[in-house]
Amino acid sequence: MKKRKGFIFDLDGVIVDTAKYHFLAWKKIANELGIDFTLEHNELLKGVSRVRSLDIILELGNVAASQGDKDKWLIQKNEDYLSYLVDMDESEILPGVMPVLNFLKENNQPIALGSASKNARPILEKTGILPFFDAIVDGNDVVNAKPDPEVFLHAARLLNVTNEDSIVFEDSVAGVQAANIAEMLSIGIGEEETLHEAQHIFKDFTHMDSAFLESLINK
Ligand code: BG6
Ligand code: MG
Repeated sequence: MKKRKGFIFDLDGVIVDTAKYHFLAWKKIANELGIDFTLEHNELLKGVSRVRSLDIILELGNVAASQGDKDKWLIQKNEDYLSYLVDMDESEILPGVMPVLNFLKENNQPIALGSASKNARPILEKTGILPFFDAIVDGNDVVNAKPDPEVFLHAARLLNVTNEDSIVFEDSVAGVQAANIAEMLSIGIGEEETLHEAQHIFKDFTHMDSAFLESLINK
C-alpha cells in the first residue's frame, strides 16, 4: 500500500501568479510615500503578512506613520490588489501545478494550503481548484506570520500527518525557513540564489517529474 504524506502548498507565487500583483500594489503605496521599492526589496515581503509587509516598507524608507495612516494604506493596498483579481480564472494557475495536483490526488495523497494570505479562498474558488484541498490554512487562521511555522503546523494537524511526513512547496525565503523550523521537507519553487535554504529547489513545477513525486511519497 502507498504511504500517506501531507503535501502543503503555499499559494501566492507557488500555485497562482499573484506575487506580481502584491508587488504592484505595494510599489504604488511605497512610491506615493517617496520610498524606492524594487523587486529585490519585494523578496523581503514574500510570504509575509499584510501588516508586517507595510512595516517592512516603512522601515525601508525610514518613514514613521500613525496607526490611522497605516490602517488607511493597508485598506488601499488590499483594494488595489483585489482589483487585479476581478477577472481571475484558471489561466492564472502557474505552469505545471495542475499535473502535480492531479498526480497527488490520483495517488490519494492529502493536500493542504498553507498561506499567509487572507484572500486565499476566493482565489482558490476563482481558479476552480478549491476541491483539490483537504485542508486550508490561511492568514485568517494564524496569529504568527512565516517564518513562524504556525501555518504549516496547523495544516499538518488538519491533514493528520506528522511534521516529518509533511512536504512544503514555497516560493519565499520566510516560507522555506518556516518549513525548516517545523522539520518538514522544504521544496523551493523559484530561484536557487534566493531559496538556497530549501532542501530541494525547482525553477517551477514543470521541472518536477512524477518520479520525484513518487520518491516523496515513498520516502
Ligand atoms: C503571502 C504573500 O502569500 O500573503 C505576501 O506572499 C502577502 O506577499 C501575504 O503580503 C498576505 O496576503 P493578503 O492577500 O492577505 O494581503
Ligand atoms: Mg508565496
